[in-house]
Amino acid sequence: MTYPVPWIKIPVRTALAIWYQWTTRTELPELSKVSVLMRQRNKVENTLRAMQHAGPGTLQVISDFDMTLSRFAHHGKRAPTTHNILDHRLLIDEDCACNMRKLLKIYYPIEIDPSLTSEQKIPLMVEWWTKVHHLLIQQKIQRDMLAQAVQESGVILREGYEVFFDRLAELQVPLLIFSAGVGDILEEVVRQSQVFHPNVHVISNYMDFDANGVLRGFKGPLIHTFNKREGALLLAAPLPELRERPNVLLLGDSLGDLAMADGVARPHNLLTVGFLNDQVEERAESYVEAFDIVLVKDESMEVPNALLKFITSGKDAK
Ligand code: C5P
Ligand code: MG
Repeated sequence: MTYPVPWIKIPVRTALAIWYQWTTRTELPELSKVSVLMRQRNKVENTLRAMQHAGPGTLQVISDFDMTLSRFAHHGKRAPTTHNILDHRLLIDEDCACNMRKLLKIYYPIEIDPSLTSEQKIPLMVEWWTKVHHLLIQQKIQRDMLAQAVQESGVILREGYEVFFDRLAELQVPLLIFSAGVGDILEEVVRQSQVFHPNVHVISNYMDFDANGVLRGFKGPLIHTFNKREGALLLAAPLPELRERPNVLLLGDSLGDLAMADGVARPHNLLTVGFLNDQVEERAESYVEAFDIVLVKDESMEVPNALLKFITSGKDAK
């Protein structure tokens, strides 16, 4: 479902560019929707053509998970992130849930605050993730219970996700899901949505279970919203499936997600799509500056699917 974009405060130059993009014909009608904002439509179209010309064999897709592949809201209610899915009485007690919610209230507004720089946010994000992981570890969460918690969580991927995942699988285009959420939960959501195809790779915070399947910690370096560059260089760059693919379609919902492509060795073409879900007025300007395409309060995969169809409908597409 797509909501019309509200009038948002942006500089005149950007407003004119957006007006031009809405009123000019394009090979991709989806880009003329009022919920789509682009600062440089010509650049977007040139990049798309170059990617189409190079063919799907040169393409990789890098996507964030929470609030990018999964929905921000459904039927007017916030949909859960992978961390929030853990708020289930099978896994954690009321006390822990209450503490996690308190932390969310404190730190989420900081995460999305457009007046703070990433440098200012980073220590606070580390604090948030560390506190929450510590709370979770105390709960002795059982691995066997995760699937049921996901099933009963109300988590839902964006409308049209099947087309997105299935087309990438069909064309053997690697999809790297790069998430600061909880990897075990993320994998379960993708599995239960029946789209965990062999071309899907996940980089995330994975739980570490003891021999009895009880949570005892988290594996590897902590990934939060604003250190994805480090993760990209350390964990994504070595993946052989991605190494020889210099064209990247990147999807995210945070400015921090733009760093997910920093591990690509010799990028030729990079097209970035940002879902602007929350605090639209306050963040529109920075999103339009940073992402090639901004989707405002759009809970669907309609635009990413149209981009993908266009890019992969060239010469060596099946
Ligand atoms: O997949 P993605 O990288 O988006 O996952 C991170 C998201 O998880 C953040 O945007 C953050 O708002 C959310 N989060 C949460 N609860 C936490 C930590 C992060 O909902 N305790
Ligand atoms: Mg996200």
